[in-house]
Amino acid sequence: MDVGLFLREVRKAPGRMGAILPSSKYLSRLMVSSAEVQDDHVIVELGAGTGPVTAAIRDTAPNAPLLALEPGAELAAHLRKTFPDVDVSETYVQDLVETATEWGHTDIDRVISGLPWTVFPEESANAGLAAVAQVLKKDGILVTFTYVHANALLPGGKRLRQLLNTHFGDVSTSRIEWRNAPPALVYICRQPKKSEA
Ligand SMILES: C[S@@+](CC[C@H](N)C(=O)[O-])C[C@H]1O[C@@H](n2cnc3c(N)ncnc32)[C@H](O)[C@@H]1O
Repeated sequence: MDVGLFLREVRKAPGRMGAILPSSKYLSRLMVSSAEVQDDHVIVELGAGTGPVTAAIRDTAPNAPLLALEPGAELAAHLRKTFPDVDVSETYVQDLVETATEWGHTDIDRVISGLPWTVFPEESANAGLAAVAQVLKKDGILVTFTYVHANALLPGGKRLRQLLNTHFGDVSTSRIEWRNAPPALVYICRQPKKSEA
């Protein structure tokens, strides 16, 4: 994947990117296998960046309707060029209910997230996860990665786990993927809790 483009974006918007390198193909595959993705699923990817996870989704589900959210304009243009059969939206996860409605799918089977939840302000992370839980089917799954050091040591890691438990009834973790810089693991979140409104 395009590391040069990723690094340019990190220099431009470090808070939005929340990482120093794109996910490795090993972590990308772990995310897709953890989500038990199938070709007849309706799939949303959050924060697609330069597209390593998009490529892994397409390897497993070449025909699935796939919407990739990527608010970075240059990254979105790169995704459209690289994956012409993926719908790319330059919107934020916090607006996912509206974006999914406009896309034409409100019952999503899988949401695969590359978002830096641990660096988001709490209110923003909470609003994003509420929107994800809202659009997922009852038996839908969210997967999202977290870096091992952040998960174990940083306040944002503990807060992420609490927020996932707020919005999902069943939260588990994958094995650690060491072949990623930094090493990471995947949260697998089932039983989305719908808001009353
Ligand atoms: C850590 S990068 C991950 C990129 C890619 N998925 C990967 O694994 O290499 C996070 C991406 O999320 C995007 N992003 C940041 N905030 C977002 C938000 N609120 N909604 C949707 N995407 C967002 C950034 O522009 C960036 O491309």
